[in-house]
Amino acid sequence: MSDGEEARVLEKALSSYYHYEEYALNEIWKPRMCKWMSLSNLQKSKIPWYGKYLGELKRCIMKNAEFYRLVVQRSVAYWGCNPNPDQWSQPTSYDMDKTVLMFTQILREWSQECQDERDLLLTRLRAFLNQEIPNKFERRVVKVLIPGAGLGRLIVDLVNDGFCVEGNETSYHMLLLSRFILNGEHPKEGLTIYPFVHTFSHQLSHEHQLRPIRIPDVRISEMLNGVCSMSMSAGSFVDLYGPPLGIKWSEYYSADIEMIRYREQNASSVRIVVTNFFIDTGSNILDYLETISHVLEDGGYWVNFGPLMYHYENDSQVEVTGDIDPTTGEVKNVNRFVPVKGLELSLNDLIQVACDQYAFDIIAKEIGIKSGYGRDPTGIALLGYMCNYWLFKKRKKSFSIC
Ligand SMILES: C[S@@+](CC[C@H](N)C(=O)[O-])C[C@H]1O[C@@H](n2cnc3c(N)ncnc32)[C@H](O)[C@@H]1O
Repeated sequence: MSDGEEARVLEKALSSYYHYEEYALNEIWKPRMCKWMSLSNLQKSKIPWYGKYLGELKRCIMKNAEFYRLVVQRSVAYWGCNPNPDQWSQPTSYDMDKTVLMFTQILREWSQECQDERDLLLTRLRAFLNQEIPNKFERRVVKVLIPGAGLGRLIVDLVNDGFCVEGNETSYHMLLLSRFILNGEHPKEGLTIYPFVHTFSHQLSHEHQLRPIRIPDVRISEMLNGVCSMSMSAGSFVDLYGPPLGIKWSEYYSADIEMIRYREQNASSVRIVVTNFFIDTGSNILDYLETISHVLEDGGYWVNFGPLMYHYENDSQVEVTGDIDPTTGEVKNVNRFVPVKGLELSLNDLIQVACDQYAFDIIAKEIGIKSGYGRDPTGIALLGYMCNYWLFKKRKKSFSIC
């Protein structure tokens, strides 16, 4: 992406946060108000509290909008954006839906309500780390990489455990909000959101639906202990940490000479890669395997948690790929019609390829762990995923001595 295109994508994400109030009132509150108004007086009298409930629903949406306005206000200066929102690229309905979904992501990562959900990975990961690297002085030089880091909670948890952690994220929706949360100096539970107001099914009561949630559930600056061993890189995981060459050129893997050098430098630079609800997000799972293998040092570990719900399975879009000439960096043999769907390897196939082709050994593996994703603990539905946990070790290269 050129710098201009990049700036437009950022502006669109920012603009979608800016327009949340208008969107949520139109799409969520207004139809319900119209439905209520359309009832006969007799039916209205059967649920006399409903009008007040809709008033409260509107108030909660407006409070959410206040929260997003603060995010926008703090982001403009930091990201160097044009301060006039009227001149920003307009968000699509996909961008707007994402602003609604981001409340679930905040709940998942930064609320006390989802601690049990986060613990499913954390307890397993910490058991391994406490056994493998118990020494806190050694931990300071152990580099952990978290691709698809979302809003950065796992980064903070692992920095708090003493590691040097780099997150990586490609979505500006995530990057804008994670920066606001991570660097905002917010007191514990100093911010209020209403994450359940966008969902009307499976609610225990309307009071539960309208209840506020306080975030963050920890004081982040205290968890970081003043130690600056946390960073977040912006861009595609494969583009930043993959092999210098050897993957097909695409929107996610550039032929830019600086990027090729950067990928070269990142070879074997990390002791542990943690993928949390991430490995099913790409259009080519082999690109992810190549990248994890490239960035890990020999004897390094890959910890994975999450389902295999391939994000592009039902997506009919195509992407453009090509070959990168290793001597000139020129892109050749461009194919404009590569389906984004495809290569959805089953769990067993994925593990076999990782072991046979990418030199991983299985240290631990658990299949079928039930987990929600930003699940409302008071909700009355069986929503969630069957997740897989594994701990793989990258084999050391064996050298033959003649
Ligand atoms: C399902 S979310 C998981 C977020 C977080 N790890 C968690 O467990 O809550 C997947 C994340 O991966 C990010 N992502 C998808 N493709 C990526 C890529 N190629 N490089 C970096 N991040 C990517 C998405 O933007 C999204 O934030």
